[in-house]
Amino acid sequence: MLEGKKIVLGVCGSIAAYKSATLVRLLVKAGCEVKVVTTADANNFITPLTLATLSKNPVLTEYFKHETGEWNNHVDLGLWADLIIIAPATANTIGKMANGLCDNLLTAVYLSAKCPVYFAPAMDLDMWKHEGTQQNIAQLKSYNNIFIQPGYGELASGLIGEGRMAEPEEIIDFITADLKKNLPLVNKKVLVTAGPTYEAIDPVRFLGNHSSGKMGFAIADVMAKLGADVTLISGPSSQQTKSRSIKRINVTSAADMLAACEQYFTGADVCIMSAAVADYTPVDVATQKIKKNEDTFNITLKKTTDILKTLGSKKRPGQLLVGFALETNNEEKHATEKLEKKNLDFIVLNSLNDAGAGFKTDTNKITIIERSGQKTVFQLKTKEAAATDICQKVIELIKA
Ligand code: CTP
Repeated sequence: MLEGKKIVLGVCGSIAAYKSATLVRLLVKAGCEVKVVTTADANNFITPLTLATLSKNPVLTEYFKHETGEWNNHVDLGLWADLIIIAPATANTIGKMANGLCDNLLTAVYLSAKCPVYFAPAMDLDMWKHEGTQQNIAQLKSYNNIFIQPGYGELASGLIGEGRMAEPEEIIDFITADLKKNLPLVNKKVLVTAGPTYEAIDPVRFLGNHSSGKMGFAIADVMAKLGADVTLISGPSSQQTKSRSIKRINVTSAADMLAACEQYFTGADVCIMSAAVADYTPVDVATQKIKKNEDTFNITLKKTTDILKTLGSKKRPGQLLVGFALETNNEEKHATEKLEKKNLDFIVLNSLNDAGAGFKTDTNKITIIERSGQKTVFQLKTKEAAATDICQKVIELIKA
């Protein structure tokens, strides 16, 4: 959820500023670009060098760079940010924010910004309880600034009570959940399969296919962006998921993929089988490398289990099951037969007769055929865009 987000992290003068170092680290690890703005007091609690090193960006405190006469443009910084997080937010800075004061760079950035602002207060028990503080917090909430509840516990003063800044991990979890909450697939568990399967012949050889996994990985990424909890079961593929929240399970053979799918299907709300699963596997796998002693060589194959059909037979009401069909002739007829035979909600048809569709390409041309018989033909587009069309159909059916 935080991936690729540009974040201004405001750090104020509180002992909790030591936690900002961990917060920067977690944000960077989550794929954010972080620019830290500190108040002058914050620099007494944590060195700008620490925050600059962790964020890989200079730490800004002053409006002006006195040596050069340049200024740190608070308007640009405010508009650059996708999110502002003020953690720790002291009573002083909260008071300034609530009343539109801007006597330092951080509060000027805050006033200039148009993006969501999260603030995680940190202060002593009695400062926290003071009516002035509580009114300022209520004021900030009324501006749609998002409040991150401080914890209860031992405070730097030795007092015990409310006022401890939320832990960095809690702040990350809170913001992630908040960003997700209005997304269409929040709380939906989605299982996606991708890539080929490899069926071993001997310790060095296998039967495989040309599937790259690109389509399935694109679906997993779009699903995650839409707020779903995604598990991706992938056959051998060099693809990488963009979203770090995706749980990836690597498998090799059709039998491995079946076992992983059976494990995760029960808990899934949606399952999209885009993997190119081998239909046949060798009856016997040689334990030693096979030598080229004969002029001809036969391998006896047996059918693999049809994973999608197996899942279709177990589908419970409310679960959505989607398959793919790669066809070369009588495309719609074959795809519709698979839709029915495997008990799917819809099937995504690719035809190898369409230029730019199918294996390895970065594009795809799909047709979605639903149980109702409704058919939607899409133009040739990138696999990401095709994945978005598939996910939109899932959302439409979930809502129906
Ligand atoms: N599939 C599966 N398990 C298999 C074979 C296929 O789950 N052992 C799934 C694929 O992931 C795809 C759908 O079934 O979502 C259709 O796959 P496809 O290869 O087009 O069709 P098959 O059912 O294998 O039939 P055929 O190869 O005869 O066209």
